[in-house]
Amino acid sequence: MISKINKIKSKKNKSIIVCLTAYSKNIAQAIDRHTDIILVGDSLGSTLYNFKSTRSVTLEMMVKHSQSVRQGISNSLMVVDMPYNTYNNPSKALKNCKKVMKSTKCDAVKIEGGLKIIKIIRYLIKNKIPVMGHVGILPQTTRGKFKSKGKSIKERNEIIRDCKLLEEAGAFSIVLECVERKLAMQIRNSIKIPTIGIGSSNNCDGQILVIDDILGLTDSKMKFVKKFIDAKKIITSAAKKFKIDVKSKKFPTKKYSY
Ligand code: KIV
Repeated sequence: MISKINKIKSKKNKSIIVCLTAYSKNIAQAIDRHTDIILVGDSLGSTLYNFKSTRSVTLEMMVKHSQSVRQGISNSLMVVDMPYNTYNNPSKALKNCKKVMKSTKCDAVKIEGGLKIIKIIRYLIKNKIPVMGHVGILPQTTRGKFKSKGKSIKERNEIIRDCKLLEEAGAFSIVLECVERKLAMQIRNSIKIPTIGIGSSNNCDGQILVIDDILGLTDSKMKFVKKFIDAKKIITSAAKKFKIDVKSKKFPTKKYSY
């Protein structure tokens, strides 16, 4: 039987890979039929907890949200982001990844970085932890304003090198965050594993966005964010209708009472 991970890898050059983040069961359940990968991203730090950076996200938070998300997935591959400071040496990384895999029953973990952490990634994969890579902008270690990646030749060469290293190490796919479009194409053509873009053009094998952003629940000003619906408006309208019915005693009627 073809494993879920091999199924994702086999989509390269055949079908575009659809990925979204989710942080809870109900959302995961609602999107699962339409996604190939659901990522429990550490973006939950800014999206749900209003943290200034993903650095404040803890392993415990990731585990709790992932356990909830797991309940809502029956189709997609489930990937969990390893938070900052949980994989800074091989043995710590393995211990924490094992904890995440065991307690959340996810299919893989995502780790930010290339050359600097390649020994750790090799060690994890050797120990049967499936890893999704992440290059370009690395929110856990980028200070200040996020700028697109691939403007200088040095930067381009480093990113291509990192992607090749991740592929050689055995990563099953790589997120490209805010990578300039020509570089995204060059990467896509130079590795055999799928690239998943966020702000990296359609020159990628798949796309990912943060669920709250596409629902219009956040006020994200990032160039790559497209609001596909205005769920905030829908929620506000439901709350308003509820308020009107409660105040006028139209709700609850007998039908909704014991
Ligand atoms: O944390 C996250 O949600 C992410 C993606 C959006 C790629 O890393």
